[in-house]
Amino acid sequence: CMKAFVDQDVCIGCGLCAEICPEVFAMNDQMTADVIVETVSADAEDAARDAADSCPVSAISIEE
Ligand code: F3S
Repeated sequence: CMKAFVDQDVCIGCGLCAEICPEVFAMNDQMTADVIVETVSADAEDAARDAADSCPVSAISIEE
């Protein structure tokens, strides 16, 4: 199953991931994105990949 990670040192808080895939990513109090699920559900996999591809600083990594 798929897992997603956000590198907190790299994320600049652009918010795109939470917009594209709110099932998996949410903004936190530090204005960076957190992964809010243990594993990415099959339904959300495409959106999660999309979010990773769209992040302007490539802070998101996906483990298939
Ligand atoms: Fe951060 Fe990239 Fe999301 S900058 S808020 S991980 S799109």
